[in-house]
Amino acid sequence: MAFLRSMHRSIQVFNSATMLTRVKSSLGVAVSQVGSRLESTTPTAFQVKEQVAKTSPVSSYNEWDRLEEVVVGRVENAVVPPFSPELKVSANEKHWDFFRDNQGRPWPKEHTEKAIAEVEEVCNILTQEGIVVRRPDAIDFTEEYKTPDFSSTGMYCAMPRDILLIVGEEIIECPMAWRSRFFEYRAYRELIKEYFKAGAKWTTPPKPLMSDKLYNEDVMDLSDEERSLQHHQGRHFTTEFEPCFDAADFVRAGKDIFVQRSQVTNIFGIDWMDRHLGDEYNIHLLTFDDPRPMHIDATLMLIRPGLVLVNPCRGCQQIDFFKKAGWDIVETASPLMPADHPLWLGSQWLSMNVLMLDHDRVMVDANELPTIQMFEKLGIKTVKASMRYANSYGGGFHCWTSDIRRSGTLQSYF
Ligand code: ARG
Repeated sequence: MAFLRSMHRSIQVFNSATMLTRVKSSLGVAVSQVGSRLESTTPTAFQVKEQVAKTSPVSSYNEWDRLEEVVVGRVENAVVPPFSPELKVSANEKHWDFFRDNQGRPWPKEHTEKAIAEVEEVCNILTQEGIVVRRPDAIDFTEEYKTPDFSSTGMYCAMPRDILLIVGEEIIECPMAWRSRFFEYRAYRELIKEYFKAGAKWTTPPKPLMSDKLYNEDVMDLSDEERSLQHHQGRHFTTEFEPCFDAADFVRAGKDIFVQRSQVTNIFGIDWMDRHLGDEYNIHLLTFDDPRPMHIDATLMLIRPGLVLVNPCRGCQQIDFFKKAGWDIVETASPLMPADHPLWLGSQWLSMNVLMLDHDRVMVDANELPTIQMFEKLGIKTVKASMRYANSYGGGFHCWTSDIRRSGTLQSYF
C-alpha cells in the first residue's frame, strides 16, 4: 500500500505525457502486487499492466462529436416510485392520483411494453449507424430499502443521463437527490467496472444521507408563480444540507460546462463538481424561468459548436454569454405531443431532448415534424425514431442515453 501511495505522489510530481505513461504502467504492477495477496482471481501483473496501458474506453467532452459508444437505459423491471415530496414537486398534479394508486408497483404493462419496443428500435438504429450500444442490468427495483435516514422502493434505470456524468475519461456516478434513486447505480456497476478495468476513471462523489434536512417540503404546496419567485430568490425544494446533483443538470461544451440549480442539483453539489474538476474546466451556473427545474436537457441543449437550442417558454438569464461568444441561439419548434398522452414525468418539451450523433446528424422523434423541419433547415440531418411511450417515463433520446465515447478531444469553444 505504501508503494501505491508513493506511486500516486509521483503521478502528481511528474505530469509530462511520457512520464505519466511510465508511471501508469508501473502503477499497474503495484496494483496487482497488492491485489494478488488478497484474491486468487486477481489478474496477473502483466494483464493489469496491459489494461492500464490501454487508452480509456470512456472519452466524451461535449454533446456533439461523433458518437462511438453509448449506454441506452431500460424500463424493464421499472417500478412506480413512492408518492413522495420529491415526486410531487416534479410531476404534474394531474398525475398525482396515478402515483398515489400505483406507487411501488410496476408501471402499466402495455405502455411499458410499447416503450421497450421503441427503445429496442432506437438501439437497432444506433447499431446500424455503427455505434456500440450498451445496456444497464434490469435489476429488481421493487425491493424496499431502509437506511438510518429514510426508507423507499426504487424506480428504474431508464435514464442513464441522470446518473452517469461523463467528463472526458471519467465516469461520475452522481449523488442524485431522489430517495427512490438511491441505489440506481447498482444497475450500472457491471458496465462501470468493465470500463474502469479497461482504463476509465471512476468517481463516486459523497452519497447524500437524504434525511428530511435535504428537502424543503413546503415548496411542493406552492403555486407555479410562487415557486418560480422563490427559486429566483434562492429557495428551492432541495436545501444546502449536503451536496446533491443529477448528471442531467449539466451539459458539456469541452472546457465549459453549464449547469442549472434545480430541484435535484444544489449549489453545494455544483461547488463539489467545480472543485473536483479543477482549473481545467469552467462551470457556468445558468438560471431559467421554470417553476419545476429538473434536468437541463428539455430547457437548453448544446447542438454543436456555435449553436444552442433553447426552450421558448423557459427564458435563460445568462443567454448573453452565448451571444457574446458569437453563438446562434435557436428557439426550439413547438412540440406536438397530444395533451391526453400520459406523460407521468417530464413535459411535452422532451421534443427538444435530442441526441447528436455527430455535428451534422441528430436523433429526433419521428412524430415531431416541426422539430424535424427545424433541424433540416439548420442543415442537420435527422435520424428519426418514435419515443412517445418512452417519453412517459420522463425522458427523450438525450435522457435515455449517456454517451460513453465520442471522437475528439478537450477543446475550448468560448
Ligand atoms: N424537466 C424536463 C422537462 O421539462 C425533463 C427533462 C428530463 N431529462 C432527463 N434527463 N431525465 O420535461
